[in-house]
Amino acid sequence: MNRILTGVQSTGTPHIGNILGAILPAIELSNDSNTESFFFIADMHSLTQIKDDTTIRENTYSVAATWLACGLDVDKVIFYRQSDIPQVCELSWYLSCFFQYNRLKLAHSFKDKSDRLEDVNAGLFTYPILMASDILLYSANYVPVGKDQVQHIQITRDIASKFNTLLGETFTIPKVKLNTSTMIIPGVDGEKMSKSRGNTIDIFTDDTSLKKQIMNIKTNSTPFEESKDPDTCNVFKIYSSIANEEDILAMRNNYLNGNYGYGSSKKELLDLILIKFKDIREKYNYYINDKVLLDELLYKGSEKAKVIANSKLAMVRSKLGFK
Ligand code: TYM
Repeated sequence: MNRILTGVQSTGTPHIGNILGAILPAIELSNDSNTESFFFIADMHSLTQIKDDTTIRENTYSVAATWLACGLDVDKVIFYRQSDIPQVCELSWYLSCFFQYNRLKLAHSFKDKSDRLEDVNAGLFTYPILMASDILLYSANYVPVGKDQVQHIQITRDIASKFNTLLGETFTIPKVKLNTSTMIIPGVDGEKMSKSRGNTIDIFTDDTSLKKQIMNIKTNSTPFEESKDPDTCNVFKIYSSIANEEDILAMRNNYLNGNYGYGSSKKELLDLILIKFKDIREKYNYYINDKVLLDELLYKGSEKAKVIANSKLAMVRSKLGFK
């Protein structure tokens, strides 16, 4: 039996990068009968960026509604809120004593965020350790994520190996699970799509705002009649991560043949998103309007997760000589 685990921070409504890069691939894996799945809302991680209780709570609901709208089946998946199982913080402290400060300084995601964000707090720096704790507490074998999280999984593997070497076999060494066609979805400015960059496409917004986001995708100024390079175009890249092969090929040919403008490819992308995510958008609206149900589902999930967390933590404490 494989165990997969992944989380999404509650820093905002999940964007199309989160959905295509992690949420949908993870749900697909969870449908395999030989897989046990743990999907959670990383609300404690979101505290590195958000300090307002109402915002964190509302974002948590919107991440939960997204998972459910995308097809998460609570009978197959242990679905929980990270902060409901504070055991993860205790483990995080232990793990932090098994990883070199100097190596943490090299984490890409910290460097990237600390260059852009005003609030560069200690939590942002030790973020990968809490993430290692999320994974190791539940003995996950595979972690489906987008490419930006790969280094964090490597850090997790290194911490687990060091602990195992020094104190005996304790942690499962997890492997990253990447979906090559969706592992980096570009944002409207061509950089990686990310909430903290403000370059997202939000499928849960109204049609007018969605259209505006798509029309804002940055393109070059090649004239309408001329042939265009699909492989360097953000519209084409996003379209390719959603469309089927035949439609991707048709758009590629349109680019290469010329007499086809970016306005047309943006329109095709918008139409595709409206069709492809119609159901998910409707279900999202259903779930986000039933917070009692969301709380109930997350509570039930956390009760199951807690049993596993407590048992792992007891084992770790015993290895460390803490009874
Ligand atoms: P977060 O909330 O930033 O993103 C959630 C998931 O979405 C993926 N993702 C993307 N994939 C493709 N293209 C993009 N533009 C894009 N943007 C985001 C991310 O790679 C991620 O898989 N640290 C994590 C949350 C976390 C976690 C964990 C994940 C906390 N503990 C344990 C796995 C296991 C994060 O910030 O994800």
